[in-house]
Amino acid sequence: MQHRGAWKNRWTFMLATAGSAIGLGNIWKLPYMIGVNGGSAFVLVFIACIFFVGIPLMMTEIMLGRRAQKNPFNAMQQLALEANASTYWKYLGAAGMLAGVLILGFYSVIGGWVLSYIAVSTQGTFHNISATQSAQNFEALLNSPITLIFWHSLFMVMTMSVVARGVSAGLEKANNILIPALFAILLILLGYSMSVGDMHAAYQFMFTFDFTKITPVAVLSALGHAFFSLSLGMGAVMVYGSYLQRNVSIAKTTIYIAIADTMLGLLVGLAIYSLVFANHLAPNAGPGLIFQTLPIAFGHMPGGSFIAVLFFTLVAFAAWTSAISLVEPTIAWVVENTQVKRTHATLVLGIAIWLLGIAVSLSFSTWKTVTIIFGLGIFDTLDKLTSTIMLPLGGLMMAIFSGYVMKKNHLQDELNLKRKAYQIWTVTNNYVAPIAIFAVFIYLLGLVS
Ligand code: TRP
Repeated sequence: MQHRGAWKNRWTFMLATAGSAIGLGNIWKLPYMIGVNGGSAFVLVFIACIFFVGIPLMMTEIMLGRRAQKNPFNAMQQLALEANASTYWKYLGAAGMLAGVLILGFYSVIGGWVLSYIAVSTQGTFHNISATQSAQNFEALLNSPITLIFWHSLFMVMTMSVVARGVSAGLEKANNILIPALFAILLILLGYSMSVGDMHAAYQFMFTFDFTKITPVAVLSALGHAFFSLSLGMGAVMVYGSYLQRNVSIAKTTIYIAIADTMLGLLVGLAIYSLVFANHLAPNAGPGLIFQTLPIAFGHMPGGSFIAVLFFTLVAFAAWTSAISLVEPTIAWVVENTQVKRTHATLVLGIAIWLLGIAVSLSFSTWKTVTIIFGLGIFDTLDKLTSTIMLPLGGLMMAIFSGYVMKKNHLQDELNLKRKAYQIWTVTNNYVAPIAIFAVFIYLLGLVS
């Protein structure tokens, strides 16, 4: 076995895990999903999913990784042996690796959109831009596969070159500055939206909770997005937890990260929707939402070009630190089980994901009519298949494994919680989260058949 990395201390683990969680999911995906799923109904369910499913399962996943100190595949195998259970559990680790690869296949393309928007911002293109022009610019990007593939390729090279070096090496320092900087620039954006946008309408849209508006589809998407946003269900935080020392409190770390992650997404949502309503745009624009609305804001604020460059650069960094965590489980598995070098493994996996991303890039134009499952296109298939099925299923299995297979004293040992906190974790992990996920799956089966 080759050498395993380790985090220097609790802080670097926390930043790396926050770096994984905070990404396009918060800035790009959550805002448009709120719009597509009817606003506040979705927000409420999403927050509930973070608290009752996301937080307990994030603790579970980190705990599994730290106990085994191995990549997800070997970790599940070892923990199963320790509990005298079937080693088939290792395939849960394998399924997670696959999910990570499928996610990066489209994540990297969206990361490419962000990179291209950095380039566009430097040219002052947004100056005094109208809503129509902004939408047209975005359409034009989607319709030029070569441009999309170029930026996607660059994003893949960025991601894989960090992974090739080992996650704990280069990343720790970068995270230290980038996450606080991202929060700072968001506050500027929020301040601007408050002064010129329709914050009142945005607030109402997102936070007037009307229980009658909650639809089953909104619940399904909210649950899936809770997993996506916290990087759960595929082994990313498990592998990060495996590099963690024993003396760090998993519960505290998890709660801080989950709250920061959720707050960030909701703040972006507020900033965007106040611009959407002030400019009479449609809240349900879908994946293009931030790329169509934010340029309007940047184009009309003093120093807007500069702020735009800064904003998209920070988003690119956030996406980058997330992307890395999507492939780390697979790379850790190769490195720990074979003689293949980290660099070689990274190259091969990188090429495979790059090819997948090319298909995704084409799915917005040339291959628009190509459908994979349930009449969904390539991008939608990857997105829906991973977020609404693979991640929740992975989370469900981890909850069952920890709650019903592992030995109680091992759990207590690793989580190291006070009595009350341990009870809360047990109830959410063993009952609330699995039942919620299960119920959503049953509903999904009903939809399909
Ligand atoms: N959480 C990241 C985001 O919000 C995306 C991500 C990184 C992810 N690693 C993951 C999602 C693992 C699911 C599983 O952008």
